Amino acid sequence: MMLLMFQNLSWAIYDSAVYIAHFLLAITCEIVPKSWVTIDTSRRRPQFMSQDPSICRQIIAGVIQHHQCQNIIPPNASRAIVNQPLKVAFGIDNAFTRSDDSEVSSFVTAARAKMNLSADGWFAVSRFARATTRNWSVKQCLLVTHSTSQLQGAMGSHINIASMAQILTLRVVLRVMFDKTDQDKICDMSILTLAQPINRAWIAQKGAQENQILRFEDDVPMQEALFDIFGTRNIMPGNNPLNIILPSFETMWRIVLRTVLEIGFVGSAEHPEWESSVVAFAMEPTKRQFELDQNPRLSSRSSSHGQNISSSPHDSMRETFSAKHLVFESLRLYVPTRRVHRAYQWSENAGSHETLSADIEGCHLRRDIWGDDAKEFNPSRWLNLTHIQKEAFMPFGCVPFECPAKPTFGPRMIGLLAGAILEAFGELSTDVGWRLVCDDKGVPEHLRSGQGLSLDRTAYGDLFLARAPGRHSMM
Ligand code: HEM
Repeated sequence: MMLLMFQNLSWAIYDSAVYIAHFLLAITCEIVPKSWVTIDTSRRRPQFMSQDPSICRQIIAGVIQHHQCQNIIPPNASRAIVNQPLKVAFGIDNAFTRSDDSEVSSFVTAARAKMNLSADGWFAVSRFARATTRNWSVKQCLLVTHSTSQLQGAMGSHINIASMAQILTLRVVLRVMFDKTDQDKICDMSILTLAQPINRAWIAQKGAQENQILRFEDDVPMQEALFDIFGTRNIMPGNNPLNIILPSFETMWRIVLRTVLEIGFVGSAEHPEWESSVVAFAMEPTKRQFELDQNPRLSSRSSSHGQNISSSPHDSMRETFSAKHLVFESLRLYVPTRRVHRAYQWSENAGSHETLSADIEGCHLRRDIWGDDAKEFNPSRWLNLTHIQKEAFMPFGCVPFECPAKPTFGPRMIGLLAGAILEAFGELSTDVGWRLVCDDKGVPEHLRSGQGLSLDRTAYGDLFLARAPGRHSMM
């Protein structure tokens, strides 16, 4: 009943400017909690955005109603319309841009098959990822070219940590999704020159008008980078490698980077065991190891709202968490897909569609759902999740569009890649191993402040790993 009232009220607000006055009145009277609804007037048309998990799920499914009217745009088309800019910028034709149900499901089936790794397959990826990061750590650089390298020359033994997360993620995507098992001839620079235009184009197409977007056909750096790796020109939408690269790489590298920073830098002084859990999983990428809680005796001691009850870093009875809990907490706090948008139209005569948005990040950070420490990294909350917390956690979207990577591939691959980086560059926050450096001293200070990491795509672009003074190279 409450939900119905809220929904109707929200739609009344949405209808016209007159109702904004009602909305403000409603907020003043605290009928609608302020955090649940946002009216965004920065775009051409007013947007409706919700942070209510149940409403978000309805928005995503395309079934939310307005004055008893259904959306006349079918669910897949409702997603494809809002993703039109991706078609322009990346020339893609995949589940996100197709309207036809059977075409969408055949794409999803093919993607699911690719990520269905056998136990041996997981160990092979683990060896590959760990050898890659170990190589960087030993050589103290990203291997940009085989002899003279732009990046190496420019950075000395400083390694750009965002570039490292991008290169490692993209290498693994190429291996798993495109069977590129022999990557010796693809240097890090080639990988980076694909990763960078993808990020640049992703940022540029957000909220842009179609005619403001650089078209895929005209994006010379992107075309050259694809040619360098895949050896084809004149890429058509149906066989564009970006159909797969985009959903896998774009989401994963950012969460891998943040997991590394959170576990290896922000939390490592007080919780060195977090790093151990993730590294152990990278070395043995099995279901058992992913879920292994090394000290189950204390698991039941944490509260449902995540109060951390362990007292001292030296307490031998302190809690430890599985890699799974650490990855889930990272996905909650640093969700890669912050908002999911859908096109809605209520009648043939309505003119054009409206965009409704599910604010996933908002759902993940609501204090009334997650507790007063909602904005803090606290893996203990995963030991006792409430029903509403389960419903609010949607890093992989929800039915009927749930990401095929949700059950296994996504969470475990994040753990594996973060673990491979931490194994090679561990002890980030101590004086004995690698440390983080940045020209802007405010960045490491902000990391240490406990205020949480930035979700901005360009954040941490100037953050480098450097060998701590007095430590000799392992070469
Ligand atoms: C950290 C990893 C990942 C995250 C956070 C993530 C997130 C998401 C989200 C939020 C959706 C729903 C989008 C919507 O409803 O519009 C989605 C769908 C999808 N994702 Fe992922 N994803 C990840 C990894 C991957 C990977 C590795 C692939 C492999 C190709 C992939 C392929 C897909 C596909 C095909 C869909 C569409 C599903 C459908 O239409 O039924 N994702 N993902």
